[in-house]
Amino acid sequence: MSRQQPAPVVELSRLTKRYPDVTAVDEIDLSIHEGELLTLLGPSGCGKTTTLRMIAGFDKPTDGVVRITGDAVTDTAPYNRDTGMVFQQYALFPHMTVADNVAFGLEMEGVSDGEIDERVVDALSMVRLEGLGGRYPSELSGGQQQRVALARALVIEPSVLLLDEPLSNLDKKLREEMRLEILRLHRELDVTMVYVTHNQEEALTMSDRMAVMNDGHIHQVGSPEEVYQRPSDEFVADFIGNANLLPGTVADTDDDRYVVDLDAGTQVTLDRSTAEVADVRPNTSLMLLFRPERFHISQDGANAANTLEGTVQEVTYLGSRMDYFVDVDGHELHVIQQNIAGDRTSEPGDRVTLSFDADSPFAIPQGGR
Ligand SMILES: Nc1ncnc2c1ncn2[C@@H]1O[C@H](COP(=O)(O)OP(=O)(O)O)[C@@H](O)[C@H]1O
Ligand SMILES: [Mg+2]
Repeated sequence: MSRQQPAPVVELSRLTKRYPDVTAVDEIDLSIHEGELLTLLGPSGCGKTTTLRMIAGFDKPTDGVVRITGDAVTDTAPYNRDTGMVFQQYALFPHMTVADNVAFGLEMEGVSDGEIDERVVDALSMVRLEGLGGRYPSELSGGQQQRVALARALVIEPSVLLLDEPLSNLDKKLREEMRLEILRLHRELDVTMVYVTHNQEEALTMSDRMAVMNDGHIHQVGSPEEVYQRPSDEFVADFIGNANLLPGTVADTDDDRYVVDLDAGTQVTLDRSTAEVADVRPNTSLMLLFRPERFHISQDGANAANTLEGTVQEVTYLGSRMDYFVDVDGHELHVIQQNIAGDRTSEPGDRVTLSFDADSPFAIPQGGR
């Protein structure tokens, strides 16, 4: 192994948390690099909060190791871990002023009073709450309270900032504003962040990398593009974006191409590059993922190598685009077309041809976790 690479800021090895009735986190391995914003994305109950709380030290792992900047901290108290945490419910001390809330971590560290005052003022200005240090949390809006929570976590200059669904208690407009605010802080302070969310749009727009979780397992870690375009399995394909999944069996392969007999009755020929994660040998079963925007829909047939024939079930006009649901041999496929002048709109009942490029579907293994 190369010794040139700096240690990851956070390193989880076979990290596990078992409760009597459920394994909340099941032997996960994950490295978070300096300066990156990594999201933990997955449905409610998949183990995101438990993972974050084990990194912070609020929950003790059943098994496995947490390392922060190279040191095993599994037995280290939360306030000695060099982490800052922002909770979904803000968790401010209601009987303390904003300034005292922000000062709390510094007092735990025994920083001098003069320095505390200075750093609190700086932290409040960082989150644009100058002059509000004397207020109590109840005198602030939800968005302002979440900014105090951010200032409180950042003031100790942690190696990693942990955020647990920090936007989920805010209304839509504030959520958008705070999302940009967190990205700005990430950029300006260069602080490593682990950001938990169940919201795929939040994860796609914010992440350097995302770790997609389900049932206590990490299914895939990658950039938003990788995870969207080249999902590792059916769960990831389906959880991120809209997925049309058609089962088939490999009929033939060569160095550049492979041929799949779809269960829907059509044969398609695809680029080898679309089969990074699936095994493509004759007779292997696989799933082909078609993203809705990668189809072209037409009524007069299509002069294309790869086509599917179907019947339009439903059409929705969305201004800049149309959404179609097309029945292809019993599979209802979602198709998105941009509205471009001159294109004819198909109607329910129309027979249509869906064409696609040889590099546009993506092959994933059938079944799996
Ligand atoms: N203190 C606890 N005692 C028992 N089960 C728990 C506890 N905390 C979490 N769980 C269970 O662990 C699983 C993962 O929970 P959690 O990490 O909160 O998920 P997420 O944050 O992804 O919604 C869930 O099934 C949850 O019910
Ligand atoms: Mg949670």
